[in-house]
Amino acid sequence: MIQYGGDYNPEQWPLATRIEDVELMQQAGVTLVSVGIFSWAQLEPREGEFDFGWLDDILDRLAAAGIKVTLATATASPPPWLTRKHPEFLPVLADGTVLHPGGRQAYRVSSAAYREYVLRMTRTMAERYGTHPALALWHVDNELGCHVPHDFSDDAAAAFRRWLADRYGTVEALNAAWGTAFWSQRYDSFDEVLPPRSAPTYPNPTQQLDFARFSSDELLVHYRAMRDVLREITPDIPTTTNLMLSTGTKRMDYFSWADDLDVIANDHYTRAHDPEAHVELAFSADLTRGVAGGDPWMLMEHSTSAVNWQPRNRTKRPGEMLRHSLAHVARGADAVMFFQWRQSAAGAEKFHSAMLPHGGTDTDVWRNTVTLGSALKALSEVEGSRVRAQAAIVFDYPAWWGTELDSHPSAAVTYPDRVLAHYRALWQRNITVDIVRPSADLSGYALVVVPTLYLVTDADAANIAKAAADGASVLVTYFSGIADENDHIRLGGYPGAFRELLGVRSEEFWALQDGETLTLDDGTRADVWSEQTHLSPGTEAVRTYADGDLAGWPALTRRPVGSGAAWYLATRLDADGLQGVTDALIAEAGLSPELDGVEAVRRVADDGRSWLFVLNHTGDEVTVPASGHELLRDEAVAGGSLVVAPGGVAVVREG
Ligand code: GAL
Repeated sequence: MIQYGGDYNPEQWPLATRIEDVELMQQAGVTLVSVGIFSWAQLEPREGEFDFGWLDDILDRLAAAGIKVTLATATASPPPWLTRKHPEFLPVLADGTVLHPGGRQAYRVSSAAYREYVLRMTRTMAERYGTHPALALWHVDNELGCHVPHDFSDDAAAAFRRWLADRYGTVEALNAAWGTAFWSQRYDSFDEVLPPRSAPTYPNPTQQLDFARFSSDELLVHYRAMRDVLREITPDIPTTTNLMLSTGTKRMDYFSWADDLDVIANDHYTRAHDPEAHVELAFSADLTRGVAGGDPWMLMEHSTSAVNWQPRNRTKRPGEMLRHSLAHVARGADAVMFFQWRQSAAGAEKFHSAMLPHGGTDTDVWRNTVTLGSALKALSEVEGSRVRAQAAIVFDYPAWWGTELDSHPSAAVTYPDRVLAHYRALWQRNITVDIVRPSADLSGYALVVVPTLYLVTDADAANIAKAAADGASVLVTYFSGIADENDHIRLGGYPGAFRELLGVRSEEFWALQDGETLTLDDGTRADVWSEQTHLSPGTEAVRTYADGDLAGWPALTRRPVGSGAAWYLATRLDADGLQGVTDALIAEAGLSPELDGVEAVRRVADDGRSWLFVLNHTGDEVTVPASGHELLRDEAVAGGSLVVAPGGVAVVREG
């Protein structure tokens, strides 16, 4: 069964509405709802005084209706009495600004005293509801780090020092790692170290990097503390928290969180201004699967229609909600859930769409909710199957943080948009891609793309080199391998860690000004970046610059390595140029593009059954070759060809 549902906030509604909610959930085929996420202030209105009546009642009603619950620890936002009593729990920005209550998530995870309150609430929830028949999964807090990924308070400073002492052992080792001989930054003891608070000019880059690592770890420590309480009381109930895997959230190193979650759950929202939002959606879904190690995962939140937090929010077009939902399923989701079940009448999210909108049941949104419920029922057999990919894109949060630090050669060298550009070029050809961390086992991939991996460990660089030696086509792009994990330059020429693999040595970067472009010898265009690159014997210049200061110098190179090849792209190609390079790599790697004109992904079961998801993001009807049984319409694919309506989706059990 593919689970179906959303966040459910019954505390916002009177009993009669809650009774109607359960009836309508049944009508829509809802199987799972997330309850209690923001209900601490309702559940504990005064310190130590609890009011569980309303939650008992709704959980009983849900259980009676056969609807399971992802029950929250209720800690996502502390109640007003708590931060009034303990204003020292409030988080602080780099410039000393205190973030006050009145919104949500006004807490600092490094405060031991705050955590005591959180663990007490977690324990209370687990003891009260641990055996409730509706309970299927624990939902720890909510989007940890969403609003306060970095806290610069004194509590955070103390925790940061402990984290550093643990990482480096001695202050000498910290001085070496941070390069503190520069600008009189030498520390004589850990006690002198601070978070990278607002400073007269660039704070130490390694300090910034370590603070990013620490902050991600500190949020994870907070998660673990709650998870451990839940595990102690309900060892058989799995635990998760909702991650924010997309090209928009850079603050948490989610690959390092994965082992602590029993199931990976993601929240994903498309961007109104992006005409190709479905490509970013596909990337985020593949990234989620990557964090899940290939296992099925849960789409914990997305939206039925517009959200409320973008500058201009876009209503979903007919068919889009179903198509986007199934695009996640195609890429490994075994649950499709929304924020939220019933659209709020008050509060900051009253203009955010929901499964049941302000207009009630005589609305397209509601009809879409019901249609999706039946579609997911029709796809039950897909549950548990997996997506297999022959291509990988290497993706790394510390590299993202490192790339976008200040005081670099060009502020136009960015990370997620480049990863997405490479992803898009593969998506265009329906090459299914795994998004993996640099230390992943790359042995199964014929094609490995490594966009702008600015900092990299020796071991990870060796892992990538091994993929080429073992037969993969490996593409590394500009501003990769520049630094080690401490953000120290790898001396001897760029791209440092990949010089040998690629057979190139760049002596100087030639960053381009805004609007400045270059032409390559095949007529394709580039901007942002170029390099003065020397080639080792055996490395071939596949493309050179045709104009500009570096006319005649290599822009794209290739070196045969073992049974594979290592390519270096030293500039930022436009979309057409990148497509050309990607097509050459696809051909060299022997990958065959799936179908043309549609998005196509396959899920495969252990027993060999397979399902082809075909998503038509265009306004035209598309006919593609397929054979088998189409599950949404429940009919055989006739004559070996499948017609997919404009904006439509089809799922074919093959064979
Ligand atoms: C998420 C959050 C939800 C809701 C939603 C709105 O970040 O977890 O509580 O705010 O966004 O899109």
